[in-house]
Amino acid sequence: MKAIVYTAYGGPEVLQIKEIEKPHPKDDEVLIKVHAVSINDWDFGLMNGDFINRMLNGFLKPKRKILGSDIAGRIEAVGKNITQFKTGDDVYGDLSGDWGGFAEYTCAREKALALKPATMSFEEAAAIPQAAMLAVQGLIDKGKIQPGQKLLINGAGGGVGSFAVQIAKPYGIEITGVDSAGKLDMLRSIGFDHVIDYTKEDFTKSGRRYDLILDVKTNRPMFDYVRVLNPKGMYVTVGGSMSRLLQALVLGPWISIIYKNRICIVALKPNKDLVYMNKLFEAGTIKPVIDGPYRLDDFLKAFRLFGQGDHKGKVVITM
Ligand SMILES: NC(=O)c1ccc[n+]([C@@H]2O[C@H](COP(=O)([O-])OP(=O)(O)OC[C@H]3O[C@@H](n4cnc5c(N)ncnc54)[C@H](OP(=O)(O)O)[C@@H]3O)[C@@H](O)[C@H]2O)c1
Repeated sequence: MKAIVYTAYGGPEVLQIKEIEKPHPKDDEVLIKVHAVSINDWDFGLMNGDFINRMLNGFLKPKRKILGSDIAGRIEAVGKNITQFKTGDDVYGDLSGDWGGFAEYTCAREKALALKPATMSFEEAAAIPQAAMLAVQGLIDKGKIQPGQKLLINGAGGGVGSFAVQIAKPYGIEITGVDSAGKLDMLRSIGFDHVIDYTKEDFTKSGRRYDLILDVKTNRPMFDYVRVLNPKGMYVTVGGSMSRLLQALVLGPWISIIYKNRICIVALKPNKDLVYMNKLFEAGTIKPVIDGPYRLDDFLKAFRLFGQGDHKGKVVITM
């Protein structure tokens, strides 16, 4: 089978298509013919080999040589302990921890998968897992989103932001998205009421206030965010600058005592809300925003686009 393989840390140029042996499922795994896979920030961290990702995947060179977590495909074989799925089922999910999604076939455990609704394409399904889980867990589990609130999403035009706005919209709230100029039309088209080009305007200095901030970039001091939160407003980050995230951890408890604003960090619970996403999709509430899909032969183009931050929504590759 073909797979996108890497044997050294670096930029997208370390990735190569190679012919390798098809995997065999263990007793507690299914074998999936992968139809589509999306690129995540985590794939990039593992590819570049920053300190934390080297702790996960080897200090000198990568132990797991095939990245890719968010896949959609058809089950081709099942291990003997599999109870929830059968051969021929169409499934999707986040394989992070095991990875191996950038390949024509991969093996996965049951808990990493959900059935794909028949009306959802493989490309749409592959776009959902990590970004949509971060959006649901950021807005609902941590953010306790309420009708009538004012929500701001910083880093709105990528995977998390494009799901978050659609998940938040039914709450009847006013949503502002912050991203670069080239993404603002797309943001308006998927439901943002207001958009801000961060290269021209600093939302922390505009004087406008929000009840909930969902941050994908976490690129400012915590007190800048507190300044634009309403009384009892909440700041929720899903990721971004490591030093700012540490600041959120350390200052969060003090900010909640002094300013009565809560600061929360989302720790991703992979695949927890896939069934909820199926319901939203089938009700027509969400439609994944897909950049591509790119053919496997064009994978470098897809990775470079993602690396430059020029993508809109989720970058999807068909295998
Ligand atoms: N908490 C967890 O357990 C966990 C697990 C996995 C991933 N994560 C995190 O989840 C996040 C992934 O989000 P995603 O998939 O939505 O990323 P994404 O697709 O890369 O989107 C990020 C967006 O932010 C924009 N942006 C860049 N600089 C900005 C700035 N200064 N101000 C405002 N917007 C800016 C980018 O566009 P331009 O480049 O055009 O500006 C892009 O549209 C990452 O932070 C990752 O670390 C967290």
